[in-house]
Amino acid sequence: MKEKIAGLLKDKVTDMELEDIINLIEQPPKPELGDFAFPCFRLAKVMRKAPQMIAQEICDSIEKPDYLEKIVTEGAYVNFFTNKTFFAKDVITSALDDNFGSSDEGKGQTICIDYSSPNVAKNFHVGHLRTTVIGNSLYKIFSKLGYNVERINHLGDWGTQFGKLIVAYKNWGSEEAVKEKGIEELMRIYVLFHEEAEKNPELEDEARAWFHKMETGDEEALKIWEWFIDISLEEFKRIYKLMGMDFDHFTGESFYRNMTDDVVKTLTDHNLLTDSEGAKIVDLSEYDMAPCLVVKNDGSSIYATRDLAAIMYRKKTYNFTKCLYVTGQEQKLHFAQVFKVIELLGNDWAKDGLVHIPYGLVSLGGEKLSTRGGNVIYAEDILKEAINKIREIIEEKNPDLSAQEKDEAARIVGVGAVIFNDLYNQRIKDVSFKWEHITSFEGETGPYVQYTYARCSSILRNIPDYENAINSSDLDYSVLTDAASVDLLKEISRFGAVITDASEKFEPSVVARYAVDLAQAFNRFYTDNRIAVDEENVRNARCAVTYITRRVLKDSLDLLGIGCVERM
Ligand code: ARG
Repeated sequence: MKEKIAGLLKDKVTDMELEDIINLIEQPPKPELGDFAFPCFRLAKVMRKAPQMIAQEICDSIEKPDYLEKIVTEGAYVNFFTNKTFFAKDVITSALDDNFGSSDEGKGQTICIDYSSPNVAKNFHVGHLRTTVIGNSLYKIFSKLGYNVERINHLGDWGTQFGKLIVAYKNWGSEEAVKEKGIEELMRIYVLFHEEAEKNPELEDEARAWFHKMETGDEEALKIWEWFIDISLEEFKRIYKLMGMDFDHFTGESFYRNMTDDVVKTLTDHNLLTDSEGAKIVDLSEYDMAPCLVVKNDGSSIYATRDLAAIMYRKKTYNFTKCLYVTGQEQKLHFAQVFKVIELLGNDWAKDGLVHIPYGLVSLGGEKLSTRGGNVIYAEDILKEAINKIREIIEEKNPDLSAQEKDEAARIVGVGAVIFNDLYNQRIKDVSFKWEHITSFEGETGPYVQYTYARCSSILRNIPDYENAINSSDLDYSVLTDAASVDLLKEISRFGAVITDASEKFEPSVVARYAVDLAQAFNRFYTDNRIAVDEENVRNARCAVTYITRRVLKDSLDLLGIGCVERM
């Protein structure tokens, strides 16, 4: 519809591309102002006339087509009122298409997303949960727009901490305990190392020696280190599986360990390295930033060096249009430094091509969360608790489901509830964690949207042969002109624009909010309109609306990395 209206405006406004006109057209906040509005402020400059006058002239010169009810002006706006029957037909026809919401904007382009990236031998905590769900949602959003997306897990699996861990393991660990308790045990002995090293600083030298052995390819050292990785990955992958998520590459920091010498060489060739107390740095004072440390005074590489190597490798291997980094705000400076160094190497693409996507903290408030030991909160425990809580609610609401159906629904809705809570607010804001809200079937929650989906499914299940009825091209669209139906159709029509908006802002919350708006619009539609009525034309048309709502709800949740169940 927007395109049609833009087409009408095209020859009335000079010097404007169709694309620009489409982008300017708004959906007014109140129905009294019509369904679409075209603001004339921008034209005022070019046409050297008051915007109100331009609006009036445009309005007078357009010959009203059948699909519009009327065209009027309101101040500097030209307001378009669509013919409701025509609008319903337009929305339903496009929404019935399998590709509704998709686009090919990203065709032939690759986006790398570096996210989740937990640290080996450390617990997967709530912060990692955030990067995981944000990164996964961005993957879905960009894929829907036709981009090829490489999902990269940049595990923290290299660095001096592994020297410490080997010393700790040799002194206070046992194979059985690590096998039995996994990361929990690795964390215990790591903490022990620090306590002991306070009393006995020689342990630090031992740790350095073991990391040196790792760096020089010592078989024993690498074998123990690899085992720590396997133990950790087993736990991480269990969480990913629970959440239904996957990666294309588990290329952690260690993957780049043999490429850091090249980084140092390239930086040297470009005269970018300066010596500083035995270390090598890139001076960034000209850009108001602390220097980027590249080689430590003991000659070893660090986190930043491996990130520099990773960028060069990824550019060469994937030739990305953009490489996104989803981490907490505390890494803002790190990425600003690394991106600047890449730019100083003469890579112009670094300016738009490398993007840090920060997010806020999870504030647990007064919530009691189960902990396995100390104050450490494991993401896996949170997910499991959510599943248990939802299982209880489903038991109560829907006792007739089979045990298997209940388990399946509890997993999908429980995990979805946590993900949704994480994605509903702008990512930069802190997320508050309140069980009562997260697992509620009402309000702005995942379970509410999933419940609305299941409601659509249940409505359609009870109407025999509905699929045939809605596939026919002779639906009676004139029965969809009441306020609730029009509102719902408007929500549905926004889907594509919502995805584009979310991708431009790297904001899954845009989709999450849309999912709630759509669910609410459907529930209002359902309150006002009975669907399983006797009149066939009315029933079929309302069935079609229910059918596309159900699909768009499912697609929206999918873009957030959340599944759906038919009964819950
Ligand atoms: N392992 C890091 C952490 O847990 C995140 C890594 C982010 N990615 C990167 N390329 N630096 O904080």
